[in-house]
Amino acid sequence: MTKFPDNEAALEDQAYYRPGRLRFYDIVVLRLSNSLLWRCPTSELLRHYNRNVSAKHLDVGPGSGYYLDHCRFPETPSVSLLDLNPSPLEFVSRRISRYMPQKIVADICEPFAEFKGSFTSVALNYVMHCLPDEDGRREVAFANIRRFLAPGGVFFGSTILGDRAPHSVISRRINEKYNTMGAFYNKNDSVERLKELLSAEFEDYEVKLRGTVALFTATAT
Ligand SMILES: C[S@@+](CC[C@H](N)C(=O)[O-])C[C@H]1O[C@@H](n2cnc3c(N)ncnc32)[C@H](O)[C@@H]1O
Repeated sequence: MTKFPDNEAALEDQAYYRPGRLRFYDIVVLRLSNSLLWRCPTSELLRHYNRNVSAKHLDVGPGSGYYLDHCRFPETPSVSLLDLNPSPLEFVSRRISRYMPQKIVADICEPFAEFKGSFTSVALNYVMHCLPDEDGRREVAFANIRRFLAPGGVFFGSTILGDRAPHSVISRRINEKYNTMGAFYNKNDSVERLKELLSAEFEDYEVKLRGTVALFTATAT
């Protein structure tokens, strides 16, 4: 396992992703919340993976690893996992042991120079809404990812949007609760904010809205 200096405060926010909870993540988040709350079914996000994963893939914040376990990789892919929390890395490594993934413990919001041009796809799925939008942290995350990509490589993912998204009464309440708990930091997130972050690093990008979730792709030149 490759380990970079970790950020204790950020790690505390993401303590939710402990092994016990990860076992229920597929049922609670992927089966129930995605369809009923955020109105973007997991099948849509899996299709997004299938369209974009490639032979040299890095997954940032893999959570329970559901998409990596179910998506269609090209034959014999090289898969890397990056998370500031070692629990999801261990959990997902076991789940997709057939790919023998490389594990990297790191905070994606801290600048680092390693892995320049190493990947042909990088996913940031349901991670942006967990990242505080302060002190340029998200800008650093997007710049890191841009540097990780080889020319022509694809950055893709999705994120739950904040107050201005078309929330139902219930999803708005739950989103507010998650923001109060420090699990989400997406109150001010919108399609425009996502486009701002993408356009700082990529000329070629696309964002689409499904329910309260923005799905994106961007290509490195
Ligand atoms: C909501 S889960 C997303 C799981 C998965 N990608 C999915 O779509 O189901 C967020 C993941 O991002 C990780 N994470 C949160 N902040 C991070 C950071 N600053 N750097 C790296 N990983 C982070 C968490 O530990 C967790 O594994």
